[in-house]
Amino acid sequence: MMEIAFLLNGAPLRVQADPTRTLLDWLREERRLTGTKEGCNEGDCGACTVMVTDEDGPKTLNACILLLPQLHGKAVRTVEGIAGPGGELHPVQEAMITHHGSQCGFCTPGFVVSMAVAHKLGRQDFDDQLAGNLCRCTGYAPIIRAAKAAADAPVPEWLDDPLPEVAHLPFRPETADELAEWYLAHPEATLIAGATDVGLWVTKDLRDLAPVAFLNGVRDLRGIEVTENAIRIGACVTISELGRAIGPHYRSFAELIRRYGSVQVRNAATIGGNIANGSPIGDSPPALIALGAVLHLRRGTERRSLPLEEFFLDYRKQDRQPGEFVEAVTIPRQPDRLACYKLSKRFDQDISAVCGCFNVTVADGVVQDARIAFGGMAGIPKRARAAEAALIGQPWSEATVSAAQTALERDFTPLSDMRASAAYRIEAAKGMLMRYFLQPQPVLEVQA
Ligand SMILES: Cc1cc2nc3c(=O)[nH]c(=O)nc-3n(C[C@H](O)[C@H](O)[C@H](O)COP(=O)(O)OP(=O)(O)OC[C@H]3O[C@@H](n4cnc5c(N)ncnc54)[C@H](O)[C@@H]3O)c2cc1C
Ligand code: FES
Ligand code: FES
Repeated sequence: MMEIAFLLNGAPLRVQADPTRTLLDWLREERRLTGTKEGCNEGDCGACTVMVTDEDGPKTLNACILLLPQLHGKAVRTVEGIAGPGGELHPVQEAMITHHGSQCGFCTPGFVVSMAVAHKLGRQDFDDQLAGNLCRCTGYAPIIRAAKAAADAPVPEWLDDPLPEVAHLPFRPETADELAEWYLAHPEATLIAGATDVGLWVTKDLRDLAPVAFLNGVRDLRGIEVTENAIRIGACVTISELGRAIGPHYRSFAELIRRYGSVQVRNAATIGGNIANGSPIGDSPPALIALGAVLHLRRGTERRSLPLEEFFLDYRKQDRQPGEFVEAVTIPRQPDRLACYKLSKRFDQDISAVCGCFNVTVADGVVQDARIAFGGMAGIPKRARAAEAALIGQPWSEATVSAAQTALERDFTPLSDMRASAAYRIEAAKGMLMRYFLQPQPVLEVQA
């Protein structure tokens, strides 16, 4: 147990926390704040959405996969704290009533919190903002109508939470040096960044994780540095922050990120976690590999860097030593030729069946360089080296691309699973390559 401090619905609290207790369980069981609902308990439905404010402002997070120590020094509002202290309704609550945005009501608290945060942030891309909240019975049209109707109302002042001053906690390092020293001494520990994977180990696998270290306080791993030659992204940068920063440089990468989980998931998930977990269907590794990204690892005071593709050795086996952690990833600056295509059964909030990322340089009609990487086609995120070789030095023509399509069969022997059959995956990968050729320039996956 350890003592953490945060604000809950405006009131300062000190709590003796079990490090792997979820906020959702704690709210419902210890505080009887049962407005926050449990639907899936794995980050998929948004019924448990809460508003969490930190030094960067308010954001939505899924309480079911948020571990209590992640809240240290922050301010949390549940649906009970979205209305005013005297019971005054928030404009989105008024609008939900006026526009009949609720039927059974199970999803409604989660929607109200997501709508209140979007309202506070002035966001009007309601489809994206609410993609992580599932409603089975009302349907989305009245809910979106309510969100639009409330958009111009002033933000209630009671949502302005001050951040509490908090003590430093030993299991929550504040600098990369501190983390490096601690992890070297505790190489068996579980690092927890956004907990969008680790949270499920707790809620679904009932795993005991001790000892743990929480990375969300490590300030010097949270920066994005753009220089003339490179973009360096700290391991604890969230996927939301990455999406905002990468858009001006690689539009299609940002568009891929728009389809990564939901707002709540992207607000928690980090780039370091997405790489370190070694998932063959993680969405950022194929895009980063296609851009020639370099991974920076650190163990104690030792640092090493390697091309990202070399980090992934085999299914769930990465080139990472005990006590070594991901410090950052660097993308070399280059003209934006990247196109990313994500195929999944749902547009929003779904894991990729196949994710293909293409970065081909053509000069005078001849392919000078090609970097192609896929997720979902092998046990690791993997470069399509045979297809790249079939392109390089050849005219950028349909015939060359056809030959490269055939080469993809040498690159990959995909599996059949619940997301897609092996045959579908190969056909899809070939189709993505031809699509890349046929597009005059990378375009957005779906135009709003
Ligand atoms: C509902 C839902 C939807 C999702 N949708 C997508 C999606 O569309 N695309 C996608 O790619 N993923 C998706 N994910 C998976 C997940 O969000 C990502 O893998 C995420 O990037 C993990 O980051 P995290 O910070 O939450 O990692 P955590 O859960 O905190 O950690 C994951 C693993 O990485 C390790 N780790 C974390 N940071 C470091 C570090 N700096 N150095 C070394 N090890 C580290 C942890 O010890 C752990 O083993 C989804 C997850 C959920 C729950
Ligand atoms: S209960 Fe479904 S996202 Fe948390
Ligand atoms: S109102 Fe019933 S699930 Fe949305």
